[in-house]
Amino acid sequence: MKGGQYIFGSLVDLDEILCSISKYFMILAFVRIKVNLAMPSVLHHLLFLMILVPSSAVAQTNGTIAVGASLTATDSATPWLSLSGDFAFGFQQLGKSDLFLLSIWYHKIPEQTITWYANGDNPAPGGSKVELTADRGLVLTDPQGELTVISDPVVGSVAYGTMMDTGNFVLANPASESLWESYNHATDTILPSQTLEVGGVLSSRLTETNFSRGRFQLNFVANGNVELATVNVPGVYKNEPYYSNGMKAGSDSTTYQLVFNRSSYIYISGNNNQNFALSQGELSSGLDFYHRATLNFDGTFIHYRRPKTTLGNESWSALWSIPDNICVRSFVSAGSGACGYNRICRLNIDHRPECECPRPFTLRDPNDDYSSCVPDFIQSCQNGQEPAESLYDFYAVTNIDWPTSDYELLQPYDDDKCKASCLHDCMCAVAISGGNRCWKKKLPLSNGRVDNTLNKKAFIKTKKSNSPSQNPGSSSPSRKNQDTVILLVSVFLGSSAFINFVLLGVIFLGFVLIYNNKLTRNRKGESGLERNLRCFTYRELLHATNGFKEELGRGSFGIVYKGVVEMGSSSLVAVKKLERIQDGDNEFKTEVNVIGQTHHKNLVRLLGFCDEGAHRMLVYEFMSNGNLAGFLFGELKLSWEQRSQIAIGIARGLFYLHDECSNQIIHCDVKPQNILLDDYYNARISDFGLAKLLRMDQSETHTAIRGTKGYVAPEWFRNMPITVKADVYSFGVLLLEIICSRRNVDMEIGEDKAILTYWAYDCYLEGTTDALVEDDMDAISDQKKLRRFLMVAIWCIQEDPYLRPTMKKVLLMLEGIVEVTAPPSPSPFSTIRRN
Ligand SMILES: *[C@@H]1O[C@H](CO)[C@@H](O)[C@H](O)[C@H]1NC(C)=O
Ligand SMILES: *[C@@H]1O[C@H](CO)[C@@H](O)[C@H](O)[C@H]1NC(C)=O
Repeated sequence: MKGGQYIFGSLVDLDEILCSISKYFMILAFVRIKVNLAMPSVLHHLLFLMILVPSSAVAQTNGTIAVGASLTATDSATPWLSLSGDFAFGFQQLGKSDLFLLSIWYHKIPEQTITWYANGDNPAPGGSKVELTADRGLVLTDPQGELTVISDPVVGSVAYGTMMDTGNFVLANPASESLWESYNHATDTILPSQTLEVGGVLSSRLTETNFSRGRFQLNFVANGNVELATVNVPGVYKNEPYYSNGMKAGSDSTTYQLVFNRSSYIYISGNNNQNFALSQGELSSGLDFYHRATLNFDGTFIHYRRPKTTLGNESWSALWSIPDNICVRSFVSAGSGACGYNRICRLNIDHRPECECPRPFTLRDPNDDYSSCVPDFIQSCQNGQEPAESLYDFYAVTNIDWPTSDYELLQPYDDDKCKASCLHDCMCAVAISGGNRCWKKKLPLSNGRVDNTLNKKAFIKTKKSNSPSQNPGSSSPSRKNQDTVILLVSVFLGSSAFINFVLLGVIFLGFVLIYNNKLTRNRKGESGLERNLRCFTYRELLHATNGFKEELGRGSFGIVYKGVVEMGSSSLVAVKKLERIQDGDNEFKTEVNVIGQTHHKNLVRLLGFCDEGAHRMLVYEFMSNGNLAGFLFGELKLSWEQRSQIAIGIARGLFYLHDECSNQIIHCDVKPQNILLDDYYNARISDFGLAKLLRMDQSETHTAIRGTKGYVAPEWFRNMPITVKADVYSFGVLLLEIICSRRNVDMEIGEDKAILTYWAYDCYLEGTTDALVEDDMDAISDQKKLRRFLMVAIWCIQEDPYLRPTMKKVLLMLEGIVEVTAPPSPSPFSTIRRN
């Protein structure tokens, strides 16, 4: 392709060439006819034309585009097709927006697959026009008349353009020499018959559907190596490559090409006749399949193929990919890694990375699955007033590591010493402990990954909070406010009485302003979330769940199915088919909206809903570890530490539902089956907000019992109003189950132990708490916490709702921030009580 020579060589099919030539003569013929119309030779020309008619009748679909032709960006515009119709050039609408991407795509298959694009960073508004001009080639004009030359630079005069069957768009001069080719301006994909010269670059898009320049680059460098590297966007600086094919360079005079040949084999070819295969495995048939190699937005470079026929339901599948494991980075010094900062990377079966936020980190941009995670706080190193023990705590996670974020290695250090060292070090964000070594890590953490062979424990520092459901990421504004106060106070102390008086006024005003600010910020946040709920059609969910095939569980409201939906990228979901619910239209909408507005790390997130005729469904994020009942009463047991974290998590979630979300939500059915566990065994409450939808007598809140036997509070059976304290009762029962890893009623255990609530109180009175946890040594050696949890549980199951603490108090007591006083007997009036 060098020097603009359009050689009819290896890259072009013979019939394609013939076609181009005949098209060219056809255009010339038209020109001459105009000039010669009155001349006697007109007959001759007509004859000449008739010979060409079969190919020129479909002027815009046989691959050749005449100068002067144009396309307008609308959703119904017909693109310029290649001769076979395999490829199309034109505008692709971006989602449902009024923005269009000038691009090349596979025309015959249903999945939108774009192989080249011109304006990823600047999609064109509807009504824009692309025109093939003689002097400047392809020119894009937006409705305001703003003009962009796409095929820059074109030297010479353009005679026509061709959309080739290979996926290459070529501009040629009257001598049929190539002036410009899309192949020489590759974006994120290369195709069979395409080569990349030294210096060639592929650049990933930002996300699957956003074609702005992304974070990854493939560079074909002078020594013949293919290198993959992250780029610090929006700049152009490249970090060290995370992949290189490690070819030893030949002599300095050797030049290389990266070749994707017509048999769909990718290799590096040196002019010293040495080839280095990038392709892995056998040659794959090129005839019945489309092939492409794409640098994905997640940094993987994958050779895909797809049957040309659309008869089966087979789509693109990967033949091979590099790197082997993008989550593992061996020689990278800077950059976040495949996932953003403070994230961890897990390789899925397609060899593509999945990025996760380990608790207590949260996603900075909930709409971008690949953004960074933010910590729940950032520790300052100013002299603290309180001891670190009362301020900070750790989340323990196994088998994750951020190998490039160390600042200190201590040895020999066991888990406890490692934790303690991190606790008292204001610069330490995470301690990783394993094999008697202790690595202390600093923020932001990079190159994080999950690896089950690591045998390491990660302790992530978190702030013990008095306001437990503090919004994720909101720590910086409150920190700022604190600083403001400190500043004001110091000015205050150093000035005269009059100035102080004025200052007092200013401070007061300041507080009013800050408070108001907070209010408006909160309101904005909520309306944003509400809009995030997606409305699914029945068909979509039928498809997503593969015809409601895989059942995840049954609850009071209907059956829950597993499914996969496209939301940015495809994600697993749980689809709850509601059955026993109210008919009222508004009720459903109202409740869905209320649920949609909740956002807390200990609640299962509602992603969308379906409200179509009789079909009422809720779509939730999928929780990989199932529900808590499976772990409390089944074979697999959770450790004491995990159980305590789960109990605290549930308390946080309930506290949020009761006190912190804009519409108070009483759960009414707190039980282990409604507590789900995510990948890290974090407790996530489900089924909240649904109680009001149950088809029962709606008029009398106190007569319709909506809970589950064994967990419902006594007031359900009495003529008393149902308040948040009903949930506190159920939580108390659940907490006992969590402590003891057994059901609240178990007739097989022995009469005196059968009813857990009674037995637990007996044990508490008699000081035999160890009996409750049987041989759980971790719990027994953690007496203080065990007793504290037990006392909190007994407070929660008080028969008198007014004696039960609020969830806020419960949380503070569980965390050991507030002292727990001795609880009275849970059921002073009950006659059922034995002894
Ligand atoms: C793509 O992402 C960029 C950066 O976040 C954003 O500015 C742009 O609006 C997005 N484009 C589209 C079409 O959504
Ligand atoms: C493509 O490369 C492979 C491997 O070098 C070779 O076997 C095949 O013949 C080549 N195909 C073409 C059309 O050059």
